[in-house]
Amino acid sequence: MHAPAASTEAILAPSVRSGGLRDRLRTATAAAHTSLDTTFSSFDLQTRRGYRRFLKASAAALLPVEAALADAGIAAILSDWRQRVRSGAIVADLAALGGVARPLPPLRRPTPAGALGALYVLEGSRLGARHLLKRVVASTDPAMAAATCYLRHGTGLPLWPRLLAVLDAAALTPSETDNAIGDALHVFALFAEGAHRS
Ligand code: HEM
Repeated sequence: MHAPAASTEAILAPSVRSGGLRDRLRTATAAAHTSLDTTFSSFDLQTRRGYRRFLKASAAALLPVEAALADAGIAAILSDWRQRVRSGAIVADLAALGGVARPLPPLRRPTPAGALGALYVLEGSRLGARHLLKRVVASTDPAMAAATCYLRHGTGLPLWPRLLAVLDAAALTPSETDNAIGDALHVFALFAEGAHRS
């Protein structure tokens, strides 16, 4: 996560544009999402072992990315950042199932534009989480249904629409947009690495 510095004020210039940052991110990361979806679909979420592997894979990437975002001062860009942090939830779920998070190495501090790209990926992962939760709670293992803080996190809060408003209002230069896309792809790659390691 590295690119030329940009000020938070510039990122937040109030211009809403069609074909904005979310569209660019979605298009640029579509193939990475399809690939990750396939990888993550290979975890058997109805067995404790498979679900624990899924949590370990996710935690390996989530923990260092959230730490890097906090380090980058994401709370100044996104006022509801504290509502979005899921590191504690996933560590607790893993502990409840006898697992331990093994985070990937710390990341470089992202620029504000890079942070938006990384955040897009983390927040997008909640959308798939809804589908995954259904499979976990269908398990006959009651301990699994009790260890779903991560997959349930943020339920009922308008986290995704609020993020989209921020992304679409972001006035990025072409190189900042490239930086956001680069960091988004990097975060997808970290989740893939976490999956392969687990
Ligand atoms: C088996 C695993 C996964 C499934 C089944 C899945 C499924 C989905 C679905 C159905 C959506 C669209 C939801 C909607 O529009 O309401 C979505 C969006 C998204 N997912 Fe996943 N997902 C999975 C894993 C992940 C992971 C691990 C990440 C990131 C680490 C991720 C990142 C995203 C992003 C960024 C979007 C937003 C795309 C957009 O801009 O519309 N997904 N996913």
